[in-house]
Amino acid sequence: MGEQHLAVVVLAAGAGTRMKSSTPKVMHEIAGLPLLGHALATASSLGAAHVVPVIRHQRDLIANYIETYFPHAVIADQDEVPGTGRAVECALNALPEDFTGAVVVTSGDVPLLDVATLESLIDAHLAGGFSATILTSIVEDPAGYGRIIRSNDGKFIQIIEDRDADAEQLEITEVNAGVYVFDAALLRNALTKVGSHNAQGEKYLTDAAAELIHEGFKVQALAVADNWLVAGINDRVQLGEVAAELNYRICEAWQVAGVTIQDPSSTWIDVTVQLAQDVTILPGTYLQGFTKIETGAVVGPEVVLVDVEVGEGAKVVKTHATGSKIGAGASVGPFSYLRPGTELGADGKIGTFVETKNAKIGAGSKVPHLSYVGDATIGENSNIGAGTIFANYDGVKKHASSIGSHVRTGSHNVFVAPITIGDGAYTAAGTVVRKDVEAGDLAMNVAPQRNLADWVIAKRPGTAAAEAAHKAKN
Ligand code: UD1
Ligand code: MG
Repeated sequence: MGEQHLAVVVLAAGAGTRMKSSTPKVMHEIAGLPLLGHALATASSLGAAHVVPVIRHQRDLIANYIETYFPHAVIADQDEVPGTGRAVECALNALPEDFTGAVVVTSGDVPLLDVATLESLIDAHLAGGFSATILTSIVEDPAGYGRIIRSNDGKFIQIIEDRDADAEQLEITEVNAGVYVFDAALLRNALTKVGSHNAQGEKYLTDAAAELIHEGFKVQALAVADNWLVAGINDRVQLGEVAAELNYRICEAWQVAGVTIQDPSSTWIDVTVQLAQDVTILPGTYLQGFTKIETGAVVGPEVVLVDVEVGEGAKVVKTHATGSKIGAGASVGPFSYLRPGTELGADGKIGTFVETKNAKIGAGSKVPHLSYVGDATIGENSNIGAGTIFANYDGVKKHASSIGSHVRTGSHNVFVAPITIGDGAYTAAGTVVRKDVEAGDLAMNVAPQRNLADWVIAKRPGTAAAEAAHKAKN
């Protein structure tokens, strides 16, 4: 079948009231993407000519997301007639009038459905000349789902919704997964015959299947091998369960690809993250967004990386980093906070209780302890003393600092930006650097030290300090 004869409809118009949220259900995220993002990514991977999300509830917010991330999708707006059948009817109306072929229907709230399952469903549908093919699952607790009614010889007859089922039907454990393939023209026609005489007063898509049987067309229902693939999310308990399962699968796929993950249960990896072979991830680590980690790097324990690139062999411990690049062989943490625009060169170091922002720190340069580096460029092989503050903000504007290569700055310095320090320069401990320092100079502006002889003995008589001083003198 050519892709011009395939359309994929993704249902996302429902209110999702069971989520109890001001965020629409399909915009809740797992593994770094909204539920709808997962569904549309799968739909888009089928190579169909048309991907048609159907929306209504919080329309503009969802439409904006679709237009930004899935610009090829054609949005269909559901009207005020409720029900999955009406939703699909609105989607069919958004297709070109001369469209013929197969229509896949999935849901925006079923994030784990994969391309392979849909492809084999489409194959089974086309091979057997069916008007509809329905994916089902056999579950322990069928409550809430539509039940699959079959004849004594196992042939599909119809789907009865939970709220419309009698006691005997409620016992059935094979349920409608909400994933279908239909012949477009036959479905269009069948939906015109479907009413809304049911417990919810809605136009059910599921009734189109019974209508097709009634008209003498072939309909099949096939059970999915792995129930997680069709797990639908209706509330936040299911959101948590499906998020954990997806994360487990993401971790497992990376383990199979050669990544050591010591504790998958405390490691959370977005679908958008890339990891090289022989990366090691230690417990309590969150890898998010477009984070990319090169081979040999060790990340964790307790690290959060959002859109961060980590170079080969780098080590990152107990760190929170966003929008940053960590060079090969570099070392970060423990207790480091890297804000956007941080770039640490190869073999560099950002150490304990150091915060950086918009800071380019060259290869081999180190900011080891208790410092803030903002709006700064540091050359190669320089060392920033403990407790240094780059004073980049004058209360109104931000200013830049530039530190050369092979610079040694003393402990407890303040660099009042804008400031430039040349290659090979030194600064003394406690210096407040307000003027540029030429290459090779030593900057110091601390007042000479005076020691007031026996001040403690005279001014603090009787104290332990005075007594200790006495003892030391005699
Ligand atoms: C639906 C099926 C049920 C199946 C279950 C699987 C029907 C009538 N019932 O029930 O047989 O077992 O899914 O998860 O189809 N939606 C719209 N427009 C609407 C109503 C819903 O686009 O007017 C969308 C929702 O946003 C959602 C999907 O359709 O993505 C399913 O809707 P939901 O309300 O969750 O249906 P269920 O009661 O779960
Ligand atoms: Mg549902």
